[in-house]
Amino acid sequence: MTRLLVVCLGNICRSPMAEGALRARIEAAGLGDAIEVDSCGTGDWHVGDPPDPRAIRNAAGHGVDISGLRARRLDTADYRDFDVLLCADASTLRIVRGRQPADATGEIALFLDWAGQGGGDVPDPYTGDAAGFESVWQLVDAAAEAVVARHRRGPPAVRA
Ligand code: 4NP
Repeated sequence: MTRLLVVCLGNICRSPMAEGALRARIEAAGLGDAIEVDSCGTGDWHVGDPPDPRAIRNAAGHGVDISGLRARRLDTADYRDFDVLLCADASTLRIVRGRQPADATGEIALFLDWAGQGGGDVPDPYTGDAAGFESVWQLVDAAAEAVVARHRRGPPAVRA
């Protein structure tokens, strides 16, 4: 079982969209028993809230229902409970690294880098318009597809 945690700032836009895209791709690939996904935010402003209505609407337009998700803040236990903490952008990566406890076992990475998408940020769409949410979806869904493809290929073969 591989446990993935997507982390952004508020846990109401980017990381729940990424969680939804990953869950959909994982289910479609029949990998529900092999990869577990959750998301959280570094901030606590929206704890307990559903995703932003614009994020819910955008994901729904792609056939993915994220309305049942609820925001939570990154917790110390997450650094042990997850194999990889996938950060939405460089700022999140800095914050997640800065809070890393001594007993952390999870890898901390930039989401688009870890997914083999060439790195870079998933831009924060919160103060933008619907187009911003669609570009977030395109980024996180391509990354989700790449994560599933990589998992299916398995670990690199060891050469003698
Ligand atoms: P997210 O977007 O990090 O993609 O969930 C944001 C949501 C809320 C805020 C900032 C970013 N906020 O400042 O409340």
